[in-house]
Amino acid sequence: MVLSRIVGTGSAVPDRVLTNFDLEKTVDTTDEWITTRTGIKERRVAAEDEFTSLFATRAAERALEMAGLTPMDLDLIIVATVTPDFPFPATACLVQNNLKATKAVAFDISAACSGFLFGLTMANSHIQAGMARRALVIGAETLTRITDWTDRNSCVLFGDGAGAVILEGREGENGVLATRIHSDGSYWELLHQPACGSRNPASARVLDEKMTFIKMQGNEVFKLAVRAMEDAANEVLAVKGLQTADIDLFIPHQANKRIIDAIGKRLGLEKDRVYVNLDRFGNTSAASIPIALDEANRLGRVKEGDILLLDSFGGGLTWASVLMRW
Ligand code: UT7
Repeated sequence: MVLSRIVGTGSAVPDRVLTNFDLEKTVDTTDEWITTRTGIKERRVAAEDEFTSLFATRAAERALEMAGLTPMDLDLIIVATVTPDFPFPATACLVQNNLKATKAVAFDISAACSGFLFGLTMANSHIQAGMARRALVIGAETLTRITDWTDRNSCVLFGDGAGAVILEGREGENGVLATRIHSDGSYWELLHQPACGSRNPASARVLDEKMTFIKMQGNEVFKLAVRAMEDAANEVLAVKGLQTADIDLFIPHQANKRIIDAIGKRLGLEKDRVYVNLDRFGNTSAASIPIALDEANRLGRVKEGDILLLDSFGGGLTWASVLMRW
């Protein structure tokens, strides 16, 4: 049987580190509040001349290098982002051009924090359908560009960066075992960016009312996230008749340590089977899972044959889970 196997991972984040102590100086917050309510200690912030396609390209180059492949080996490039370089063309096309991956077809996916797992699911479908053999899937964001630095409710949460994987269709038992993606548009207002689209085009009012920034009803999102991520995790396990005891590493979207702990507890996963790096990167939306996956991979936290469960939740609302054998 042909399975989509991850044959390379890569990530890239800005050099600039913004700590909770730095934020204490500019907004009415404390390291203590941010640490206890979110688990975040610091995040990476793009420089003025850095943007989403740049991080995406760097992450892709590292993933290709690990895979021992060249850009010309790619059939498909998917970038998941809600902070593209431009409304159009797709950031994936910019990455394609940077890499000179001229044989690939490239497009973006907008599913907020679930974007990477939506992309992985779509790439897996392309491979299963025989439409692609090798796919590059990237989650990349420059969220600090749409962050209101005067709003303590949200500005302490977000960070920038990108993570990438190369998927290759190979005969064998290792690879993507099951995927589940979900959405519920009735909750769209809980987490959105009011402007920069066709509904509220650029205007003085848009700037005055800070409509280019992320709006989030954190508490509501929190409650829905825990339930949906638990359900999505159980769904993919059920497809393969596996139990939570079979999971070697659980990599959830890195939004809030309390959300991750709550899901871990509900699933009965001890802390050493749950990957957490939000203390250093904050919430990087679509980039959070592939950055964590690349870090875990390079640290040797995943071994051949390990069962990995990836789980996400974000604006849309959207949620998703992917089960794989490494
Ligand atoms: O990535 C996609 C999905 N996103 C998420 O999953 C995020 C989900 N939500 C969350 O992570 C949490 O809801 C937040 C971290 C956003 C907020 O934590 P919370 O425990 O839900 O706090 P809250 O919004 O209920 O606020 C509690 C208090 C409020 O003060 P009052 O009204 O009780 O006096 C806030 O004004 O904490 C206050 N507060 C802060 N205080 C110091 C909010 N932000 C801050 C801050 N520093 N940065």
